Amino acid sequence: MTNNNMIFIANWKMNGEKKHISDIDKAINFSKKLKNKKIKIVYCPPYTLISKIKNKVKNTNIKVGAQNIHFINDYGAFTGLINSKLIKSAGADYVIIGHSENRSFESDLIINKKIISALKENLKVIFCIGETYREKKNNSTFKVLKRQISIALKNIEKINNIIFAYEPRWAIGTGKIPKLAELNKNFNYINNLISKSKKKQTYQIIYGGSVNSKNALELLKIKDLKGFLIGSASLKSKNFIDIIKKSIN
Ligand code: PGA
Repeated sequence: MTNNNMIFIANWKMNGEKKHISDIDKAINFSKKLKNKKIKIVYCPPYTLISKIKNKVKNTNIKVGAQNIHFINDYGAFTGLINSKLIKSAGADYVIIGHSENRSFESDLIINKKIISALKENLKVIFCIGETYREKKNNSTFKVLKRQISIALKNIEKINNIIFAYEPRWAIGTGKIPKLAELNKNFNYINNLISKSKKKQTYQIIYGGSVNSKNALELLKIKDLKGFLIGSASLKSKNFIDIIKKSIN
């Protein structure tokens, strides 16, 4: 495990109001003291807070991302929807795409279109993949990962702006994490799959699903791990920072 260029992404999901963003001050102070400037910290709040948080973290190393986008890249008559151009103009540098909480209403092909749209706007994509508990029990994890990755990367040549977030769907918000051997096996599979089709390109694979400061040390043993996507433990900066500290010390 190399821990000098890890990325830590806070996924606030449908949480956070204006009054909560002062808590990010702790993360700002922490990041200012960080000696290793290669460590990346990203906050993905609801759309409503992107520009406010962006304003707060300006002049720091902390970046801001969105949690989803519409697949259409152009402006248009899509009431209530937000695309890559709009999040970019609000201050986002990153976007989460394919999160398992959205996968029941978006197909692999739609996810592919979203990734293409995001890359077109020079956004960094946090692309989520992972199997359900049933798929794991049926031994179809590899099959699912292969389908998710191959369809999502269709017609995409350059993957250096894509971060692959392996998030077993059954581990999200449940307090359960896979065993290390299983994680290494799946990371290795993902790595082989990507490197076979996208030769010699650099990319990162991170883990998400019930990461907290108690299990971080165990998860850090995953070979080739390059960071974490963190949901509930990122809502309080203190918990989020604890995970980062454990990971880089
Ligand atoms: P969790 O969420 O850390 O609360 O399990 C992770 C995620 O959904 O990205």
